[in-house]
Amino acid sequence: MDLRQELEALQRAAEQAIAGAGTPDALEAVRIGLLGRKEGRLTEIMRGLGKLPADERPAAGAAANRSKECITALLDARASVLAGGGAAVARVDLSMPGRRRWRGARHPVTLVVDEICAVLAGLGFTRARGPEAETDWYNFTALNTPLDHPAADMHDTFYLAPGVLPRRHTAPVQMRVTQQIQPPIRIVAPGTVYRRDPFDASHAPAFEQLEGLAVDEGIGFVDLKATLTEFARQLFGSGTRVRFRPSFFPFTEPSAEMDVSCVLCGGGGCSACKQTGWMEIMGAGMVHPAVFTNAGYDPERYTGFAFGMGAARIAMILYGFPDIRLLYENDVRLLEQLVRP
Ligand code: DAH
Repeated sequence: MDLRQELEALQRAAEQAIAGAGTPDALEAVRIGLLGRKEGRLTEIMRGLGKLPADERPAAGAAANRSKECITALLDARASVLAGGGAAVARVDLSMPGRRRWRGARHPVTLVVDEICAVLAGLGFTRARGPEAETDWYNFTALNTPLDHPAADMHDTFYLAPGVLPRRHTAPVQMRVTQQIQPPIRIVAPGTVYRRDPFDASHAPAFEQLEGLAVDEGIGFVDLKATLTEFARQLFGSGTRVRFRPSFFPFTEPSAEMDVSCVLCGGGGCSACKQTGWMEIMGAGMVHPAVFTNAGYDPERYTGFAFGMGAARIAMILYGFPDIRLLYENDVRLLEQLVRP
């Protein structure tokens, strides 16, 4: 039997003997049998280490020391059980609160994306997605945005390679979907978009957007207004008022910006809405005929509306966040406290 096997056998025997010792005296006898200076079995093994060839000694010594530590710990544990008798069990304080394990949770932006998609699902919109790396055709040209538009400038958009960019908005998914399927279409496409913006209280260089698109024969601006008004009431509360302000986007005509009555003050004016009573939540409009032509649709036959919103912006409104950076710094102490009011 080599030393390792000998130690293992000793350890097993020790475990049994220690567990079987029913009194402090019996345990002391076991201790002497193992570690006693004269006849302890482990002591004898350790004494024998000196006879080993010099190159085997360090490893053997370490193994013997580990056994000694282990046996000593078992002896101590058994001794304290025997000393306390049955009281060892009673000393466990059952009223002590359990240790709380840290549990992961979904990020507030993810929760808001899911909530928005759920509301839109109720209105007939299916989730869609498209690639994050896009060509400038999908990101700009197909959406009626000429490449000399300021948004296509290197100062505003990251480029991965000539003509390839991390998408600036989720609007390219409109084109990806219309190229693949025929109307009627009702989709919502959440995803990350990238801009060459400074990271400040209201801008992030990468953020989540949601794109909506509805296409069919006979869709009018009234459908846009009705759908988005119902959406806002379900998301922000049934008493929410909405307003549409004229705006401009190259891919929609007419275009609008949609505001909801301030979720904090209800419209009276407060610091969150800069005293206006309104909060802007998205851009929207009737799909430009040129976009339909690029998709291969007959713009005389089909009409539709599109809308785009920032999930972080909606999260800021719903959770009352003053600064978008808080959502992306991911300090768990803050994220843990986020429960939708
Ligand atoms: N793509 C716009 C943006 O990133 C948002 C937008 C506005 C999307 C109007 C739309 C729309 O679909 O119709 O700012």
